[in-house]
Amino acid sequence: MKKARALIVDDENIIAWTLQEKLTKEGFEVKTAENGESAINSIREDMPDIAFVDVFLPDIGGIQILKEIIGLNEDIPVIMITGSGSVDTAVTAMKLGAYDYISKPFNLTEVAIIAKKAIESKRVNREVTWRLEKEKKTHSIDSIIGESKEIKDVLDMIQKIVQSDATTVLIEGESGTGKDLVGRAIHYASRRSARPFMDINCTALPDTLVESELFGYEKGAFTDAKAKKIGLFELADGGSVLLDEIGDMLLMTQTKLLKFIENKRFKRVGGASDIEVDVRIIAATNKNLKEEIKNGRFREDLYYRLRVIPIFILPLRARKGDILILAKYFIDKFNQEFRKDVKGLSSKAEQAILSYHWPGNVRELKNVIERAIILESKDEILIEHLPIEVVEGVPVKGEEQQQSSFVLPEGGVPLEEVEKNLLIQALKKAGGNQSRAAKLLSLSRYALRYRLKKIGYLKADATD
Ligand SMILES: Nc1ncnc2c1ncn2[C@@H]1O[C@H](COP(=O)(O)OP(=O)(O)OP(=O)(O)O)[C@@H](O)[C@H]1O
Ligand SMILES: [Mg+2]
Repeated sequence: MKKARALIVDDENIIAWTLQEKLTKEGFEVKTAENGESAINSIREDMPDIAFVDVFLPDIGGIQILKEIIGLNEDIPVIMITGSGSVDTAVTAMKLGAYDYISKPFNLTEVAIIAKKAIESKRVNREVTWRLEKEKKTHSIDSIIGESKEIKDVLDMIQKIVQSDATTVLIEGESGTGKDLVGRAIHYASRRSARPFMDINCTALPDTLVESELFGYEKGAFTDAKAKKIGLFELADGGSVLLDEIGDMLLMTQTKLLKFIENKRFKRVGGASDIEVDVRIIAATNKNLKEEIKNGRFREDLYYRLRVIPIFILPLRARKGDILILAKYFIDKFNQEFRKDVKGLSSKAEQAILSYHWPGNVRELKNVIERAIILESKDEILIEHLPIEVVEGVPVKGEEQQQSSFVLPEGGVPLEEVEKNLLIQALKKAGGNQSRAAKLLSLSRYALRYRLKKIGYLKADATD
């Protein structure tokens, strides 16, 4: 690792010298300056990683040097060296942004510790700022691609939401339509962006865990609660929490959530005192919550409370105008990632992706393009590079011959792939009619649908 460079500005040679010796021993590269002028020249020439500055210097005062350093780069920790009776100056220096001060006579070991801590904390600060900037960029509103009226409406809505600081948002849409993307964009475009963004998927966790994840618990709240746990709402104070798949939240937890939204305060599980936090709640669901309410699985009052601002993202098949735009965007993205130079889609491939119904929405399109870019070695994505279900309806040269032969290829073939192929072929032959396709494979319609769901052709919860 590169040595940290320290600058010591002190006119008392003995001080500068002992400090230099100690810091050099501790692995610093040290420069010294005896007066303000040479200190400022040295800083301008070669920015140090840390500076020790005596408040009393023969020419320019230490405070002036501090201002100079901060003006040039506020990331450099400045440690003031003060004599007895200069407490006021030390206080002024701290107010102006000095990292710390040490008083003469000082303990050299302590000084070395302060110096290392200062460098480490500035490094961590820089890293955090860098990560935050990156997060903001990757999750900016510009990362939401599409030119259909529907997507433009969503973008307009986001712009309005980010102006108001606290409103609750409900994002509805099928799986893969971009609910997560929109949720994050709302957080990172809002004034809350410097505070945490936390998300929780209510489906992925066992029901009872959701509540303690959100609200936290006190030590001893239940058998396994060996220590206090801070929940997401507390951790995200000042920021936003995305409650993903809220349709799967237990009724009991829904009640507690509703109370929290209304009062902005809650109790940890097993806790007695109220905790007040300020978070924006962004809820997302791919379920039809109205349906869930009818079936008694979702609280109606919570639904209306969440829905202060609703965003509905249409499935991709209902905004066909976005398909080619998104495809182009993903081609560029994966070209970069895999160092390819694929120019675009052949007209047949375009036709195929335009007429496909995209049950997995944008996520599926993204995966299809990624796969095609990996397979394609020349200029254009051809229909051969697309999965069979996407191509359905557009004849591929020689495809019929290959797929209807039941000869096992030399290297073998996964049975699942054969099954998938045959299912799609049967559907094609039957012109999409499931009963006729089932007959062609000697299956009941129910068994056909079961298999179509298994291969992802139909959504798992698709009904007739
Ligand atoms: N309009 C869009 N522009 C660019 N990328 C998009 C768009 N919509 C979705 N994506 C991408 O598609 C993928 C799926 O999106 P996301 O995870 O936001 O969907 P989701 O609605 O949350 O899905 P699920 O219901 O399965 O959680 C992500 O990689 C996302 O970046
Ligand atoms: Mg999601």
